[in-house]
Amino acid sequence: MSGANRIVAIDGPAAAGKGTLARRIARALGLPYLDTGLLYRAVARRVLDRDAGPADPAHAEAEALALRSEDLERTDLRTPEVDRAAALVASVPAVRAALLSFQRRFGREGGAVLDGRDIGTIIFPDARAKLFVTASVDARARRRWLELRARGVDAALDAVRADMQARDAADASRAAAPLRAADDAVVLDTTALDADQAFAAALAVLAQAGLTAGPSAEA
Ligand code: CDP
Repeated sequence: MSGANRIVAIDGPAAAGKGTLARRIARALGLPYLDTGLLYRAVARRVLDRDAGPADPAHAEAEALALRSEDLERTDLRTPEVDRAAALVASVPAVRAALLSFQRRFGREGGAVLDGRDIGTIIFPDARAKLFVTASVDARARRRWLELRARGVDAALDAVRADMQARDAADASRAAAPLRAADDAVVLDTTALDADQAFAAALAVLAQAGLTAGPSAEA
């Protein structure tokens, strides 16, 4: 990795608060941010648009290889249908291989904050700081349900919880880059923390790793 290693890897299960935290950390450290879940979501969206089965490895790989930056700008990447299809395409090794170099290039030059499932284990095993962000199933289901409601999606809390648990189980049990905390990751349980408290706890971990925030840290 060139220059000073300024990679922050943030992994964890669905709706644990990774995205909010990663965005704030990136702003505080003046680093670009990549939501790697969007890559898998965009591949899934392309597969669904072609009426192809997201579980078919050949379709999934073809769409991963054809992915364009505009695909990441779409506003229909966070639907329950795409949640499920993203976990399916993400279990295909060829899809993960197709997305690997983009992720590495994104962080390699000047550093970056990336969130996902395998950033600390596979994409950047030598990241400067690794956080594994988690929370109880109930807390995460409730957060996702509130997010969906805020976007006008009317879903039952029980259904949101069941979908989320199924996706976590699939992510954790797949053979290719399963969801797990890297051995050297710091686990941050946000069940009882609000966004400010989670951010403060994360900043303490980053400081331990020698990454200190500038004056915009309070933004
Ligand atoms: O926002 P949420 O945490 O629910 O999901 P996401 O981060 O957008 O990821 C969607 C799906 O993409 C996950 O359930 C994983 O199956 C897959 N994913 C992955 O396999 N590896 C990553 N680095 C990021 C996401």
